[in-house]
Amino acid sequence: MRVAGAVRVPGDKSISHRALIVGALAHGRSMVRDILRSDDVEHTAGVLRALGVKIPPLAREVVVSGRGPDALTKPLTPLDCGNSGTTARLVAGVCASRPFASRLVGDASLSRRPMRRIADPLRAMGARVELERGDGLPMDVEGGALHAINWATETASAQVKSAILLAGTAARVPVVVKEPTRSRDHTERMLRAAGAEVDVIASVVRLEPPERLHAVALTVPADPSSAAFLCALAALADSGGLSLPQVCLNPTRTGFFRALQRMGARLEMHGGGEQAGEEVGEIFCWSSALHAIRVDAADIPAMIDELPVLACVAARAEGTTTIRGAGELRVKESDRIATVAANLRAIGVEVAEYSDGMDVTGMKKPLEGRVVTRGDHRIAMAFGVLGRLDGNRIEIDDPACVSVSYPDFWDDIRRATGGQ
Ligand code: S3P
Repeated sequence: MRVAGAVRVPGDKSISHRALIVGALAHGRSMVRDILRSDDVEHTAGVLRALGVKIPPLAREVVVSGRGPDALTKPLTPLDCGNSGTTARLVAGVCASRPFASRLVGDASLSRRPMRRIADPLRAMGARVELERGDGLPMDVEGGALHAINWATETASAQVKSAILLAGTAARVPVVVKEPTRSRDHTERMLRAAGAEVDVIASVVRLEPPERLHAVALTVPADPSSAAFLCALAALADSGGLSLPQVCLNPTRTGFFRALQRMGARLEMHGGGEQAGEEVGEIFCWSSALHAIRVDAADIPAMIDELPVLACVAARAEGTTTIRGAGELRVKESDRIATVAANLRAIGVEVAEYSDGMDVTGMKKPLEGRVVTRGDHRIAMAFGVLGRLDGNRIEIDDPACVSVSYPDFWDDIRRATGGQ
């Protein structure tokens, strides 16, 4: 199978959520271009509308009319976050600053995911947070005047860090967050662009919120987590190469591309400019002979969402790839260690599962079988890449679940492979 052409993958999901939320907290009209239109981002838009923010239907260009945190109003219905952990955790931070009760709910997958990690710091700031089932959703949040905190997180999580930063911003109190390893820093960059004072030293973030955030104007760069699937496809192809323009090359997000280079992939990242305080550039990736690598705890945050596709690439690389220090994968949209291991086994790959990772042994023989995604978009796409390679016959039980982050995924990989 040969790949060719350029694919502009859709807008970055993390930046799209934050553009809507920061726009809602700011004063004035924030103009957001190329926002990701996917189920997760629609849920953030829907939840903000339920809190009284004026957001038109998501289109190529969206104007968020922000009137500041004090203009948010008590929602009349529970805030439905769907499948989106980012929506639930970031919006909970905002709701913690409001003197009215909000109830956050989600689908079965999101309801199982840990929420105590944000409930604890938000309570420490003075908000009331109730987790009906001890953890997970539904979650009831009510706040008001919060106080400043200095919080050390147990895991490197941008969602936890952002919940605290947004609570501090919306309540106008300074906060300090320290992480074990630095997670993606889009919230810091966007708050800075909106006028907040944000200092970062190593993995410590210090926020001094202004009285008012000002509106932002930004073009959302292409999502590196979506680009990762196209790069995997290009590296595993028999011949050819792909170009991926306008991708966000923020170093807290590019770990997968560096890993692919370490596996021997011919992959180049060409930084070309800045959009929304984020480095943006073009990625080129060509068909390559790949070998196994080892990935450890310090590598994980910068490629956390790409580990399923890395494991699928490892199934086609020479030798045994080792992934460790990735226990966070167990609490994603599915238990991604168990889901990836079970599905690799189902298509004939040798894999050993560990509490915090896996070993995947690459092989050349054709892969055949049925993949059970558990509704997890990144599982569908990771195995979708393997399914597109010559000789493999892989059925995906729920291909439509890609709508969470990359609705046109199947069309894009069909076009990249010449439409056959
Ligand atoms: C995200 C942070 C990551 C990531 C998720 C998006 C974000 O989660 O897995 O897909 O936009 O902040 P954690 O912060 O829980 O690691």
